[in-house]
Amino acid sequence: MARLTAPAPADIDAKTQGALDAIAKQFGFAPSMFTMLAANPTVLEIVMGLQGSIAKLLDAKTRHTIALAVSQSNGCRYCQALHGFISSNLGGMSAGEIELARTGPSSDPKRAAVAKFAQQLIETRGQVSDEDLAVIREVGYIDPEIQAIVAIVVVTLLTSYLNNVSDTVADVPGADHQSAWLSSPSAAQTKETTTLNLDKLITKHLTRYFDPSKRIPEETFQQLLRYLRTSPTTINIQPNHFHVLETQDGKDKLADALVGRFADNAEKVRNASHAIVFTTRKDIPDTHLQEIFEKERSDGRFADPEIQKGWEAGASNFVEIQTENYGGDVLHWLEKNTYLVVGATMMAAASLGVDATPLEGFDRTTVDAAFHLTDTDYTTTLLLVLGYPDEARVSRQPVSRFDAEKIFTRI
Ligand SMILES: Cc1cc2nc3c(=O)[nH]c(=O)nc-3n(C[C@H](O)[C@H](O)[C@H](O)COP(=O)(O)O)c2cc1C
Repeated sequence: MARLTAPAPADIDAKTQGALDAIAKQFGFAPSMFTMLAANPTVLEIVMGLQGSIAKLLDAKTRHTIALAVSQSNGCRYCQALHGFISSNLGGMSAGEIELARTGPSSDPKRAAVAKFAQQLIETRGQVSDEDLAVIREVGYIDPEIQAIVAIVVVTLLTSYLNNVSDTVADVPGADHQSAWLSSPSAAQTKETTTLNLDKLITKHLTRYFDPSKRIPEETFQQLLRYLRTSPTTINIQPNHFHVLETQDGKDKLADALVGRFADNAEKVRNASHAIVFTTRKDIPDTHLQEIFEKERSDGRFADPEIQKGWEAGASNFVEIQTENYGGDVLHWLEKNTYLVVGATMMAAASLGVDATPLEGFDRTTVDAAFHLTDTDYTTTLLLVLGYPDEARVSRQPVSRFDAEKIFTRI
C-alpha cells in the first residue's frame, strides 16, 4: 500500500480530473503517481508544468536516459518502472538501451556520458568536479545543454522523491518492477560504502537489540538483495524463495508468528530495519530443473550449447545422487544450501556496515502458516533480521568460543 493517500474520485475537482484524463490518454493508462498527486492539485500542476517544460530540452532519448539514470541512482523503483515504460512505449528505446541507461553506460557515447554525469550530479549534490565537467564537454555538450541536463535531473529528482516518500504502488503495464534494480548496479551503486573489518567482526556479538529508529538506506538494501539473488548454490539449484519484510506491517506479520517460547525473537524482528524469511523448496521436480536450464540458456551461461546440454544431464544426475545420499530427504540437502546463502548474506551485510542476525528460534508450522506456505512447495528454513544495534544495549562482554587448540588441526 502506498504511504501517501490518493484522493477518492468524488474528491477530485473537475480541473484536476481533466488533467488526469489527459495524462491517461497520453500514457494509455492513469499512472498511480499522478492519481496520488491529485491530493494536492497545486503539486500536480507544478509537476506537470515542469515535465512539460523539460520536454523542450535536448532530445527525447537523452531525456529518457537521464530520467532512467536518476531513478536508478535514487533507488526509486516506481520511477524506474514508469520511466522504463515511457522510454520503451513512448520513447522508442530498446530493452537493452533502457538497461544501459539505468546502469550508466550506453551504446551511444554521448548518452553514456550524460547518464554518468546525471548520476555524478546526484552523488555530489551538484558539486561535480572540473574533470566531470570536462568529460561532458568533451563528448560535445555545450554550456546551455549542460544547464538542460541539470534541469532534467532536478525535475526527475522531484518526482522520485515524491514516489519514494509515497512508496507509490507500481501499476505500470508489462514492467518487471523488481528486476530493474535487481539486475545490475548503477555506476554510483558499484562503489563500496564500507570495508569489511574482520578484526572488528571477530570481537563482535551478533546483535540482539536493534535500534528501531534506524533504517537501512534503500540503495544499501538493494545492493544486499542483488548480492542475495546471485548467491551460488549446488549445481545452481536455486531452491529458495525470500520473503523480504521491509514495512512495519511485514515485520509485524512475522513477529506475530513468533509466540510461546519464541516470543523473545518477536522484539528483534519488530525493531529491526528489515527481516528476510528464507524458505526452501521441499523437493526438486523436473519442472524446477527445466526452469533453471531454460534461464541458464537465455542468460548464455555457457557459450557452447553442447556444453549446456552436458551440464543439464550432469545436474539432473546429481539431483538423483543427492536424493539417494540423503535417503530421500531432499529438503535436508537443500536447507544446507539455504544456510550457506544466509551465511554469505550475513557477510555481505557486514561489508555494508549492516548487522544481520539469523534466528532459528521459530515454529516452522506457525511461520509457514503466516506466509501462506502450508501445502506449498516451500517451507521456512531460517529468519534473518537486519539493521543497526541499539548502542545502549550492545554487549560489552567478551565473545566466548572454544580455544583454537580444540577446534583446529593444522597439518
Ligand atoms: C543459525 C543461527 C541461529 C540463531 N538463532 C537465534 C535465535 O533464534 N535467537 C537469538 O536470540 N539468537 C540466535 N542466534 C544467535 C546465537 O545464539 C549467538 O550468535 C551465539 O549464542 C553466540 O553469541 P554471540 O554472537 O553473542 O557471540 C542464532 C545464531 C545462528 C548462527
